[in-house]
Amino acid sequence: MKLSTKHLLGIRDLTKEDIQIILDTATQFKEVLQRPVKKVPSLRDVTIVNLFFENSTRTRISFELAEKRLSADTISFTASNSSVKKGETLLDTVNNILSMKVDMVVMRHSATGAPHFLSKHIPAAIVNAGDGINEHPTQGLLDALSMREKFGTLEGLRVAIIGDIMHSRVAMSNMYLLKKMGAEVMLAGPPTLIPKYTAEAFGVKVEYNVKKALEWADVANVLRIQLERQNQVLFSSLREYNQVYGISRSLLESLGKDITIMHPGPINRGVELDSDVADSGQSIILQQVENGVAVRMAVLYLLAGRDSN
Ligand code: CP
Repeated sequence: MKLSTKHLLGIRDLTKEDIQIILDTATQFKEVLQRPVKKVPSLRDVTIVNLFFENSTRTRISFELAEKRLSADTISFTASNSSVKKGETLLDTVNNILSMKVDMVVMRHSATGAPHFLSKHIPAAIVNAGDGINEHPTQGLLDALSMREKFGTLEGLRVAIIGDIMHSRVAMSNMYLLKKMGAEVMLAGPPTLIPKYTAEAFGVKVEYNVKKALEWADVANVLRIQLERQNQVLFSSLREYNQVYGISRSLLESLGKDITIMHPGPINRGVELDSDVADSGQSIILQQVENGVAVRMAVLYLLAGRDSN
């Protein structure tokens, strides 16, 4: 089985079958990751460079680990200690790296569309590790794998995406993926953080009352308030945000039903999510992180042209 695309730039470009293949391949790699020897030789002759122009903990470690588990040769680059600081352009940086015979590029960048730009100018396969406020496709895929493991299917699942939708590439990738896979999606949070066009463009519901959204949902994917991307005041204070839109233990207990809590990380504890919820049995946040390695192994393996059979 092969993907319909040479790059992973966004979930928007994937077919339902592509998503199914990636999730099924990730499930096979998850089995490998339970073994005493967690390494397979699948990408032994493949060289991958990780280009991180923006901060990351989970995604970067997860890609590096996935590459090592597949026996790829890897190089990691951070913009903060590179010649980008001397004024080198993105294309020059990448072309210099590629001249050292690199097969695949994993890239995170604060500019929306940066990986799409690269894909038009270089021959290597590109994996988007998060571009601006556009997409974070491997996060969407690992979220999907985590929900599929918990509920057996995404078809008909009710997922509330709660919080800072406006600045969230995670929300975008989740919306594309969940709609393609037949889930129902509701966006919830302050009106100032939910763009007006979203409901119609994606065919999703919008609810400004978080309690009502939780009453409707099987899963709440709670998003980080991205203060670093906000250049105007979109809510009164973090304290007020927590009181009105934050997910607390007392709010969950008032629902009278179980709900699964997800968060892509990093968490603003005490803002969008209280610690006694984040660390509770209802939370699958660390399973999401664990699934990230298997999902990234699957993506790299499939894009390298190693089919899943
Ligand atoms: N979820 C996520 O992308 O986390 P990092 O920014 O730490 O990679």
